[in-house]
Amino acid sequence: MVALTENPKKRLTVQVVDIAEQTTTIRSLDWDRDRFDIEFGLQNGTTYNSFIIRGEQTALVDTSHEKFRQLYLDTLKNQINPADINYLIISHTEPDHSGLVKDVLQLAPDVTVVGSKVAIQFLEDLVHQPFKRRIVKNGDRLDLGNGHELEFVIAPNLHWPDTIFTYDHKTQILFTCDAFGLHYCSDDTFDEDLEAISPDFEFYYECLMAPNARSVLSALKRMGELEKIGMIATGHGPLLYHNVEELTGRYRSWSQSQTKAETTVGVFYVPGYGWSDRLAQAMSNGITKTGVAVELVDLKTADLQELREIVGRCAGIVVGTPPVSNPAAQTALSTVLGSAKEKQAVGIFESNGGDDEPIYPLMNKFRDLGLTPAFPAIQIRETPTENTYKLLEEAGTDLGQWVTRDKSIKQMKSLDADVDKALGRLSGGLYIITAQKGDVKSAMLASWVSQASFKPLGVSIAVAKDRAIESLMQVGDKFVLNVLEEGNYQSLMKHFLKRFAPGADRFEGVRTQSAQNGAPILTDALAYMECEVTSRMDCGDHWIVYSTVDAGRVSKPDALTAVHHRKVGNHY
Ligand SMILES: Cc1cc2nc3c(=O)[nH]c(=O)nc-3n(C[C@H](O)[C@H](O)[C@H](O)COP(=O)(O)O)c2cc1C
Repeated sequence: MVALTENPKKRLTVQVVDIAEQTTTIRSLDWDRDRFDIEFGLQNGTTYNSFIIRGEQTALVDTSHEKFRQLYLDTLKNQINPADINYLIISHTEPDHSGLVKDVLQLAPDVTVVGSKVAIQFLEDLVHQPFKRRIVKNGDRLDLGNGHELEFVIAPNLHWPDTIFTYDHKTQILFTCDAFGLHYCSDDTFDEDLEAISPDFEFYYECLMAPNARSVLSALKRMGELEKIGMIATGHGPLLYHNVEELTGRYRSWSQSQTKAETTVGVFYVPGYGWSDRLAQAMSNGITKTGVAVELVDLKTADLQELREIVGRCAGIVVGTPPVSNPAAQTALSTVLGSAKEKQAVGIFESNGGDDEPIYPLMNKFRDLGLTPAFPAIQIRETPTENTYKLLEEAGTDLGQWVTRDKSIKQMKSLDADVDKALGRLSGGLYIITAQKGDVKSAMLASWVSQASFKPLGVSIAVAKDRAIESLMQVGDKFVLNVLEEGNYQSLMKHFLKRFAPGADRFEGVRTQSAQNGAPILTDALAYMECEVTSRMDCGDHWIVYSTVDAGRVSKPDALTAVHHRKVGNHY
């Protein structure tokens, strides 16, 4: 059964499908990405999936985002009298899945809320009203009758600390919420089109799961103890049915290679406090861009012995300020300080939860211990904007580059001298790539640029994985390729090669106009092309970004393009 309800203005729709015996999904389809979110990079919208399991008793697994309030609740009421729901299972308390818990509690005041201990605690703060609850541990079971015996798997940090999975022994469906999800909105309920969903599946893993790779491996181990998993009913995107083994296998191998990374940075913060979650995520993103693994650690719930071990093995430490008045977080912070070592890099960002540990005294403590600040401590005074998250990402990249600098220099030197010189004979033009996504702008000087196709008109650009502009050059993103002029490129080149501080405005003092696609055109460039990214190829330390060219113009018809000749191949 499929029912579609359309709201053409916002393109929010709801899909209802029976996915197994007595099991129905209500998928809230959010076709348009309406705000900048790092993990929405591929811009294919998203879905919030909720499930009804009807045994002799009925369970609702997760709800929806509050933007679907009317649509979701109407649909739910069409499916079931809410008063007949016995259990509301909370896979985790992130608002995009539990945003309507309060509403469901109003409709079904007798419902028993099922979740991990941490989830129930979070929920108390979220709904501010009494509710029946059942806290579950790993392996606990809940029999709904008619064979629907549910078993709970504790899967902390995927990607929230309070995450649980729910396995239905009758249908062999594992409900995983964020884990194995992807931000991909289509009418397909299932993963029929593996090729189409693969880039989003991987991108989502990199943004949300890679910083918790160890936790992913623990969850996979626990999943291995269940009988066969026939379907993974995720909270975002299509449900995994056709490719369960393939896609769980990808999680395993990605996580294994993450945990084998030579260099790790620990990000210590208090989830759910202030803006810490998305700030920590943006920071982690910036760090992982440099090939450095991240371990996200919850200061409120961390085991102190484990904390010492993590700090001990990290090349860098980032602290998202915990609340002063939380004794557990304060003890954990003292443990981090007590285990920190000279030669480690350190970074601090404010969480802005209203009761933050002051950043400068904390930074001084780390300095006194001999650690090196990799970026200036980041103050968060107001609600973070897209630019704030970009600043955090760039700060993370600076830190990642700092902790790997010796390795990078060694790699550059290791090239065979003859090969190096031969490669050095490859030359290119000089270009400035400029991009804008929402309010965030960036730019870089590039010479590894080449026309790549006639039909469609296309160019390829090699973009180092740790470039600041890289996150604005995802599939579907638009940018401008500015061509520099021979004999007249020095000042632009010098400007854009400056070492910019995280979050700095790279266009200050540069003349620009806005292209039709929204990116800045450099007024002093010889020519420009408006481009759109169509695909990206993973080439070790660079992405080859292939883009189509939609428009362009030359300002001086007789002038030539600046050419860049090199002597060696291990530098640009
Ligand atoms: C002559 C020259 C050519 C360059 N070409 C490229 C390029 O094609 N791709 C790239 O990723 N970086 C290239 N770079 C490096 C970037 O320009 C980059 O601005 C710089 O290292 C700052 O990195 P950030 O933007 O991530 O802070 C080149 C640098 C020089 C000097």
